[in-house]
Amino acid sequence: MRLRRQPGVREAMATYPGLVPLNGEEYKGKWQTFFGNSNPIHVELGTGKGNFITTLAEQNPHINYFGVELHEEVLIKAVKKAEAKKLTNIVFLWINIQDIENYFAPEEVDKFYLNFSDPWPKKRHARRRLTNSEFLVKYKRLLKPDGVIQLKTDNEGLFEYSLNQFAQELFLLKEITFDLHNSEYAEGNVMTEYEAKFVERGMKIYRCVAEHPARLAAKFEEQKERS
Ligand SMILES: C[S@@+](CC[C@H](N)C(=O)[O-])C[C@H]1O[C@@H](n2cnc3c(N)ncnc32)[C@H](O)[C@@H]1O
Repeated sequence: MRLRRQPGVREAMATYPGLVPLNGEEYKGKWQTFFGNSNPIHVELGTGKGNFITTLAEQNPHINYFGVELHEEVLIKAVKKAEAKKLTNIVFLWINIQDIENYFAPEEVDKFYLNFSDPWPKKRHARRRLTNSEFLVKYKRLLKPDGVIQLKTDNEGLFEYSLNQFAQELFLLKEITFDLHNSEYAEGNVMTEYEAKFVERGMKIYRCVAEHPARLAAKFEEQKERS
């Protein structure tokens, strides 16, 4: 995504320490102390302008939400949405997802959301896709053993690639749909800014949930005991 640099955005970000802690690494493994509670942690990777994560935060005050975003020009819009809604259960990490392990400890996260991640269609750019197995290995370490990753995309190629990468990393796939808005998972779906644009153009949305491999192992043991 090409963004025009807006003067003063970086400085503006520093004026929201409660929403954009610039010392986030210090809270790795200790986000409970930041929020003052031990509520579950849900993280959107590549949060963009933040409609999805701020709406969820408003709907679910007993979950602590994180929006992770590299580009300040879009992130500032998400931060302003959270401020307008007076949310106290949300934090934005202004970082590269590559470095996510500097901000969360192993098994600190309950759920990751990947919404309309950049598809990087060229094969030589495959490692940049946020569902590349190198990224999935990181998410897997940070997820609780009963944690999940929820993915939505308009891009068939990225969806197919992601399903294969999840399978390669032994995630257990469920709730797969090739047309979210005409599926049983449509109810309660919160749209992102990109999603709203694609839906308006009549495009179909792909969606799936990938469970941590520990769940697969537990289910396998259960089945073994039953047989
Ligand atoms: C196509 S946009 C989708 C935004 C939003 N999730 C939505 O659905 O409206 C992808 C977003 O991911 C962010 N992003 C991509 N790679 C990233 C990375 N490595 N670290 C942090 N943010 C990243 C981009 O800056 C961009 O805002």
